[in-house]
Amino acid sequence: MANDLAGKRIAFLGAGKMGGIILQALLKSGMLSAELTSATVAHEERAKVLAAKLNVKVGTNNVEASKNADVIVIAVKPQVVEDVVREIGGYLKENQLIVSVAASVPTLMIENGLPPTIPVVRAMPNTPCSIGAGMTAICKGKHATADHVALTAHIFNVVGRTVVVDEKHMDAVTALSASGPAYIYIILESLAEAGVKVGLPRDVATLLAAQTTLGAAKVVLETGDHPALLKDAVTTPAGCTIDAIMELEEGKLRVTLIKAVVKAAQRAKELAFG
Ligand SMILES: NC(=O)c1ccc[n+]([C@@H]2O[C@H](COP(=O)([O-])OP(=O)(O)OC[C@H]3O[C@@H](n4cnc5c(N)ncnc54)[C@H](OP(=O)(O)O)[C@@H]3O)[C@@H](O)[C@H]2O)c1
Repeated sequence: MANDLAGKRIAFLGAGKMGGIILQALLKSGMLSAELTSATVAHEERAKVLAAKLNVKVGTNNVEASKNADVIVIAVKPQVVEDVVREIGGYLKENQLIVSVAASVPTLMIENGLPPTIPVVRAMPNTPCSIGAGMTAICKGKHATADHVALTAHIFNVVGRTVVVDEKHMDAVTALSASGPAYIYIILESLAEAGVKVGLPRDVATLLAAQTTLGAAKVVLETGDHPALLKDAVTTPAGCTIDAIMELEEGKLRVTLIKAVVKAAQRAKELAFG
C-alpha cells in the first residue's frame, strides 16, 4: 500500500465530531478527492445535511460505503465499533486498511470481527486536528505492516503531529492528549477569569492566557528543555511568580492534574465494554 492517498478511496464510518473534523481537514488540505470519499452516520437527516455541507457522498449504509474503499476510518462511539465491524466484516478484503479512532477498543477486538489478515491500525487524535494543530498517537494491530502505519501517519500528519506507540499505551494517550484539550480549556478559562479579577478586560485576558499557553507549549516542543527548567527561568528569587507557584502548590494543581489523567486512563480501559 503506497504511502499516500492519491487515487485511493476512503470511507469514514461515523462522521460525527471527530470523524467530521478529520474528514473536513483532509478534504480542505486537498489530500482527499471528494469523488473518492464517502462517509456514514446513523441518521438519514444528518447524512443529508453533511453531504450538502461537505460535498461528498454521505449515507447510513456502512457496507455500501466501505466495500470498495482502500482505507476505512471507523469513528463511531467505542460501544458501537463491534456492531459496525460485524456489519462490514463479511464484505472486506485483505487489501483494505481499517483505521479506528475509537477510544478503548483494542485492535484485537476489531480483528476478531474481520476476515483473517485484514490490517487494523488504531489512531488516537484530538480536537485541535480541526485547525491542523492536532496530536495523534498511532499503533498497529497484528496484521498491519510498517507501510500501513506510515499511511496512517501520513493521513494524520496533515492535521497535526503524530507519534507511533505500542498499543499498551493507547489508554494513557487517550487520557492525556485526546481528553487533554478539555483540561487545557479549563486552565485557560480560569486564567482568563483571573485576568478579569485583576482588572483586565475579558477579551484581553483571554488573549493573554491563550497566547501564553501556546507560547509556553511551543518553547517545550522547540527546545526540548524540561518544563521544570523553563519554569525556573520565569521564577525570579523573591519575585511575584514564586508567590503564585506557592498558591498553585497549596491548591494541589500538580497532583490534581496527575489524578485527572489517571482517572481518565482507567475509564478509557472500560469504554468499549459498555
Ligand atoms: N471527540 C473527541 O475529542 C475524540 C478524540 C479522539 C477519539 N475520539 C473517538 O472518536 C469516536 C467518535 O467520537 P465523537 O466524539 O466524534 O462522537 P460523535 O460526535 O457522537 O460521532 C459519532 C458518529 O457516529 C455516527 N454513528 C452512530 N452509529 C453509527 C453506525 N451504526 N454507523 C455509522 N455511523 C454511526 C453518529 O451518527 P449521527 O450523527 O447520525 O448520530 C455520529 O455521526 C469515538 O470512538 C471516540 O472515542 C473522539
